[in-house]
Amino acid sequence: MSMSESDSGPRDGFPRPFPTTPTNVLAQLRLNGKVVVITGAADGIGYAVAEAMAEANAHIAMWYNSNDAAVEKAKGLATTHGIKASAYKVDVSDSDAIQRGVEEVVAEFGRIDVFIANAGMAISKPLLETTLDEYRRQMSVNVDGVLYCAKSVGEVFKKQGFGNLIITSSMSGHIVNVPVDQPVYNASKAFVTHLGKSLAREWREFARVNVVSPGFFETKMGASPQCINEAYRMAALGRQGHVKEIKGLYLYLASDASTYMTGSDVLIDGGYVLP
Ligand SMILES: NC(=O)c1ccc[n+]([C@@H]2O[C@H](COP(=O)([O-])OP(=O)(O)OC[C@H]3O[C@@H](n4cnc5c(N)ncnc54)[C@H](OP(=O)(O)O)[C@@H]3O)[C@@H](O)[C@H]2O)c1
Repeated sequence: MSMSESDSGPRDGFPRPFPTTPTNVLAQLRLNGKVVVITGAADGIGYAVAEAMAEANAHIAMWYNSNDAAVEKAKGLATTHGIKASAYKVDVSDSDAIQRGVEEVVAEFGRIDVFIANAGMAISKPLLETTLDEYRRQMSVNVDGVLYCAKSVGEVFKKQGFGNLIITSSMSGHIVNVPVDQPVYNASKAFVTHLGKSLAREWREFARVNVVSPGFFETKMGASPQCINEAYRMAALGRQGHVKEIKGLYLYLASDASTYMTGSDVLIDGGYVLP
């Protein structure tokens, strides 16, 4: 940042060249042969994203924790789309497991083009009803998990000289959601949103980093019975999202259609945070 006009003269190496990507937008969106890792990939948003990547012809590493349906789903996507897909059991609250997982993916697939840090969990309660153990469990997945993934895969990106990190945050990182108080979840998502923006700068020489902030989507982590009517009322579109409606955004961010995008936080919430 220049503080005066005299500080803001030409700099060596600028402007940088435009990327040598196709001009046809549908060609930009193809992920032919790229390697994409998705955490929380067995179900919900993560599985929809895994489908999107496979449909765009990427090879995929589907990380799961407790839901081993990921194993069969990976086989199904590989067969349907003629891509390589493997499932890996990795608890994202365990930094050693993540480091091993990243090394295994690089050994099996040769590189990592895109890493989608999507796993998350919520214990939606007021702070005064939340035990410290419940606080730590949420932080260990939503905050530590994303940070550990970023740290391990960031080393790979730096070594490769390219990479793309996409973080699933939440509209709850933007707003204090109602009617259920859930300060720990909200704050955990605010952390990863700002972490993503900060990494976009730190990694500017070799990787892009962007954040997706969903509103309510109909998954296991979608609107609970206490929230559902408010979810319909608050969303301008009057409903939760279907996971098929978020696939295009992740594909855009993972692809060469978004080569000028880094440090962005994209809300996709049916207009929930408008009022
Ligand atoms: N649905 C919504 O309304 C909504 C709104 C805003 C943001 N989000 C965010 O979207 C992301 C995906 O959630 P979803 O809606 O698709 O719900 P979901 O189907 O319940 O997905 C959550 C995923 O996180 C994984 N996970 C939880 N703890 C983990 C751990 N310790 N290690 C590894 N993976 C772990 C789960 O894996 P296993 O099942 O294999 O254990 C699961 O696949 C989350 O980050 C969530 O916060 C969702």
